[in-house]
Amino acid sequence: MMKQELDIYIRARYPLLWLVTPEEERALKEIEALAQDQRKRLLIWSATTGVINPATPARADATKRDPLALLATILDDTEACIWVLRDFHPFLKEPTVVRRLREVAFGLRASNKTVILLGAVLRIPPELEKEVTVIDFALPNAEQLNQALTAVIESTQRNGKIEIALDKRQRTRLVQACLGLTENEASDAIAKAIVQARGRLDGDAVEAVTAEKQQIIRKSGLLEFYASEERLTNVGGLDTLKDWLRKRVRAFSDEARAFGLPEPKGILLVGVQGCGKSLVAKAVANSWRLPLLRLDVGRLFSSLVGSSEENLRNAIKVAESIAPVVLWVDEIEKGFAGVGSSNISDAGTAARVFGSFITWLQEKKAPVFVIATANQVHHLPPELVRKGRFDEIFFVDLPATAERAEIWKIHLLRRNRDPGQFNVQALAMASDGLSGAEVEQAVIAGLYEAFDKNRPLTESDLLEVLHETVPLSQMMAEEIEELRSWARQRARLASGKIA
Ligand SMILES: Nc1ncnc2c1ncn2[C@@H]1O[C@H](COP(=O)(O)OP(=O)(O)OP(=O)(O)O)[C@@H](O)[C@H]1O
Ligand SMILES: [Mg+2]
Repeated sequence: MMKQELDIYIRARYPLLWLVTPEEERALKEIEALAQDQRKRLLIWSATTGVINPATPARADATKRDPLALLATILDDTEACIWVLRDFHPFLKEPTVVRRLREVAFGLRASNKTVILLGAVLRIPPELEKEVTVIDFALPNAEQLNQALTAVIESTQRNGKIEIALDKRQRTRLVQACLGLTENEASDAIAKAIVQARGRLDGDAVEAVTAEKQQIIRKSGLLEFYASEERLTNVGGLDTLKDWLRKRVRAFSDEARAFGLPEPKGILLVGVQGCGKSLVAKAVANSWRLPLLRLDVGRLFSSLVGSSEENLRNAIKVAESIAPVVLWVDEIEKGFAGVGSSNISDAGTAARVFGSFITWLQEKKAPVFVIATANQVHHLPPELVRKGRFDEIFFVDLPATAERAEIWKIHLLRRNRDPGQFNVQALAMASDGLSGAEVEQAVIAGLYEAFDKNRPLTESDLLEVLHETVPLSQMMAEEIEELRSWARQRARLASGKIA
C-alpha cells in the first residue's frame, strides 16, 4: 500500500515526503525495495551516523552529520537519488534549517531527487505545510504478522526448547489477535506469551496477546478496547434506529459484498441526554459481533499526549488494521467544538485535525463503522453533518409512552424483578418526560425504598419515587426544543413517533 503510494509520489517528482511511522526498520526495508525497483540510488541520513549508502554500509560519510551541510549536499548533488532523513523533525526548530529545507523543496521540484523525512513524529512547521506531502505507513497486515510469528518461533527455538502446540485455526486467531500492533510489538507480545506459558505456545497465547494488545492500545492514550455486555434487546424504543442496525448485522460479510452492497460507513446519533445514544453504540458492536474501539476526542486535542494530528493518524491506523471494527466517537462535539473559533489556543491545529477526520470519514476504504454521538448541536461543525459523511443522522428524542413501558420492563428485569408483577402501563404514563436514564434511576430509588422497609419492591414504591422526580427535560425544555428544531431539518427520527 505505502510502497505503491510512495512509488507514485516519487515518479511524480514530489520533492518532500513525510513518512510517519514508529516502525523505522520495516519502513526502510520497503523504501530499499522501492529504490531497487526504480533503479535509484538510496542514501540514508541520521544525525549520529551522517550519510550512509545501504549498499556500502561500512563507508558512512560523517562530514554530513550537520543538517545544514546535509541539505546543501542534497541541493548540489546532481544524480537521481532518494534521500531518507531519519528523525529530522527536532532540527526543524531551527529557522535556518526550515528555510533551507524549503529551498531544497523548491530546488528539487523538477529534479530526479526525492527527500523522505522518516520518523514517528509529525510536526510540520507552518512554513513547510504547502511543500510537504504526508504519507502513512500502515500497520502490518495478517500476512506480515504471520511471518513475524514464524520469525519469533524460530528465534525462540534457537535459544532453547519450546513446545509448539498451535493448530491451524489457533494460529490464524493468534495472528488476528496481533492486528493493530506494530511488528515489534506483536513479536514481543508473542515472545512474552511463550515465556509466561513456560516455553509453550498454544491456543492460550491468543488471550495473552489480546490482553497485551489492549494494554498497548490504551497506552497510546486515545483509543480503548471497550468491553460491553449490552445488546440491542436492552435498548427500549428507538425502533427505526434498531431496525436500521438490525438490517446491517451481516453488512461486513463476504455475502453482503457479493450481493453488491457497500459497507456501511457510520451513523451520527444526536439527541437528548440519557436517552440511549451511548447505550446503542455499546450494543451495536455486540450485536454485530465486532470489536468495539472507543476514541477519546477530548484527549485528541489535549497537548499532554503529543501532537493531535499524529494522534489522529495513529488512532485511524490502529482502527483500520483491526477492521472490521466499530469505532465509537462519544460526544464528538466536545472535541471538535473549537473548530472555527478563535478563542482556543490552537484553532489552526484543531481545524486541520478536524479536516483530516472528515476526509477520512468520507473516503475511508477499510470497514470501520463509526458511531458518533452528540447532545449539543450548536457545537457541531456544519461540515460534519453534510451529506456523505455518515450514512444517516438519527435524532434520539425523549421516549414516548410505549417506549417508556419497554424501558421500565428492561430495567425491572435487569434488577431481577418480574415485569409481569407491575402495571408497566401505569408506570409509563406516570413517567412522562423522563429519559431512559431517569427511568433506570427511578427503579434503583424504588428498590432502596423497599430494601429499607425490608419488603419486596411494589408498584407504589416506584410511583412514589416518580411523584418526587423532576425530570431533567422540564429544566431543559428550551434546549430540547432547540434540538428538535435542529433535527427536524437534518436528521431522521430514531423512533417513529414525533414528540
Ligand atoms: N432507550 C433506553 N433503553 C434502555 N435503557 C436506557 C435507554 N436510554 C437510556 N437508558 C439507560 O440510561 C443509561 C444512560 O444512557 P446513555 O448513556 O446511553 O445516554 P446518552 O444518550 O448517551 O446520554 P448523554 O447525552 O448524556 O451521553 C443507559 O446505560 C441505560 O441504562
Ligand atoms: Mg452518552
